[in-house]
Amino acid sequence: MENADILSIKQKALNEGVPIIKDEGLEFLLKFIKEKQAKDILELGTAVGYSAMKMASLDKDIRIDTIEKNEEMYLQAVSNIENSPYSNQIIVHFMPIEEYKTDRMYDLIFVDAAKAQYGKYMEQFLGNLKEDGYMFFDNMIFHGLVYDVENIESRNLRNLVKKIVKFSEMVSNDDRFDIMKFDNIGDGILLLSRRKSET
Ligand SMILES: C[S@@+](CC[C@H](N)C(=O)[O-])C[C@H]1O[C@@H](n2cnc3c(N)ncnc32)[C@H](O)[C@@H]1O
Repeated sequence: MENADILSIKQKALNEGVPIIKDEGLEFLLKFIKEKQAKDILELGTAVGYSAMKMASLDKDIRIDTIEKNEEMYLQAVSNIENSPYSNQIIVHFMPIEEYKTDRMYDLIFVDAAKAQYGKYMEQFLGNLKEDGYMFFDNMIFHGLVYDVENIESRNLRNLVKKIVKFSEMVSNDDRFDIMKFDNIGDGILLLSRRKSET
């Protein structure tokens, strides 16, 4: 697939209001995958397959499982991926993330779905993270709203943003993990890895 094809998928997604990763966050994600030579990737939240195809385009040995529960999104993703050179690298699983169970171990778990569930997903997939693997959480500043939670008028939105803040605090204080936060990149990124024992 030419870059122009991925670009048209991105443009269509943006025109139709499909939430896809921001350019800056994507650039950071791709650089991170290259640097860590991540090959086995789990993506939570496929949408139309844009980020999955961008990740797959880095290296033909990259293999991605990506999960989507919305049928319309799933069908668009499958069609986009089937018409791309990455169809043998990406498997789209049509199901709620909560139901995805596998013995596969991943170098990178890219979490880009229901933000209120980040803590739950972290625990659900920790056992599928390789020893040197990373979990990558997007939307950690949620358009800057995490800095001014009490002034958010909508109660639902306020509760959602509170959950993101709580998740960030929870993993930062959990001594199982090393955390890196990049609040000024894209919509805010948090990287989590297992803390190595000091012996
Ligand atoms: C932000 S979009 C993913 C964007 C995509 N990673 C990209 O950048 O191209 C989040 C997607 O997660 C899906 N989603 C949300 N909650 C989910 C769940 N519990 N199980 C499966 N998919 C879910 C939504 O339907 C939506 O398509």
